Amino acid sequence: MTSRVVDLRSDTITLPTPAMRQAIAEAELGDDVWREDPTVNRLEAMAAEKLGKEAALLTASGTMSNLVALLTHCQRGDEVLLGHEAHIFHYEVAGAAALGGLELRTIPNDSRGRLHPKDVEEAIRLPNIHYPRTGLVCLENTHNRCGGAVLSEADMEAVAQVAHGSGIPVHLDGARIFNAAVALGMPAANLASHADSVAFSLCKGLACPVGSLLCGSGEFIERARKYRKMVGGGMRQAGIIAAAGIVALDSMIDRLQEDHDNARLLAQGLAGLPSLRLDPASGQSNMVILQVEGIPAVEFQGRLREAGVLVTYMGGQRLRLVTHYGIERADIEEAIQRIRAEASALT
Ligand SMILES: Cc1ncc(COP(=O)(O)O)c(C=O)c1O
Repeated sequence: MTSRVVDLRSDTITLPTPAMRQAIAEAELGDDVWREDPTVNRLEAMAAEKLGKEAALLTASGTMSNLVALLTHCQRGDEVLLGHEAHIFHYEVAGAAALGGLELRTIPNDSRGRLHPKDVEEAIRLPNIHYPRTGLVCLENTHNRCGGAVLSEADMEAVAQVAHGSGIPVHLDGARIFNAAVALGMPAANLASHADSVAFSLCKGLACPVGSLLCGSGEFIERARKYRKMVGGGMRQAGIIAAAGIVALDSMIDRLQEDHDNARLLAQGLAGLPSLRLDPASGQSNMVILQVEGIPAVEFQGRLREAGVLVTYMGGQRLRLVTHYGIERADIEEAIQRIRAEASALT
């Protein structure tokens, strides 16, 4: 086994930067449930401004932001339309159903994470005593289970037009919206403009230890604040968390390009091997998805672990590799060599 382990499991494993640790230590604090934490107030104002929304709310996690958004947009018994590969559908413990009484109805995502406007249009419920009300349409950008796929502004706009045309709001799970914005070379606000609410994460590529922001209109965030309290997310001296978030929004967005360059290098280095296929979106942002051929993907994952490369099993024959703060170009070059060696042993 080689010396340094290259950990490509997730961008959630990132550790705070020295500047974040210092900001956390020096943060000015107050009780945020009483809206008296100046550091939280500052972060929320910055987040709203970056996303082009009136207001924002700090929550404990992406899962909490999405749940609070769904609770705020919908009433019990409503149906929420979202992609069959959506994070909200797969990995958020059915909180919308368990806690919100909401039905999640899936529409096919294509391999680039998109929803087709026609599918959304056909899924929207007509007024009929037998049907639930369609309460919300959700998009995800970048798209996690679709290999970090980046939805273009036009992709988002097309779906939003259909939803808004029927008076239905749109929520964007933008946990990695800044990855999408950097990949597209446009402000995140352009993408956010097609959604009524946007959740983004601080604790993924932006490298904060904790936190997510839900952004929307002033009136929406006012109501969301109450739902955040309901689900136990009213935090007191949360400036401890927000201080790192301010550093992230100030200085960690542009560097996401390095992660994207590294993911592209990884995708190029692993292309064309007989035993590994790459999902089409690989290298669009900070992810690469490998389809393993010949042996079970979990077994190949184990061989990679032995060789000093950690990756995530995504079900079926899929393995996910994520580039992030703390992973350098040299680590990627090393990972490519190790993965190629293990892959060639399969043929
Ligand atoms: C697209 C997406 N949405 C939401 C989340 C949830 O974030 P958290 O882990 O902070 O709850 C994640 C986490 O990986 C994600 O990838």
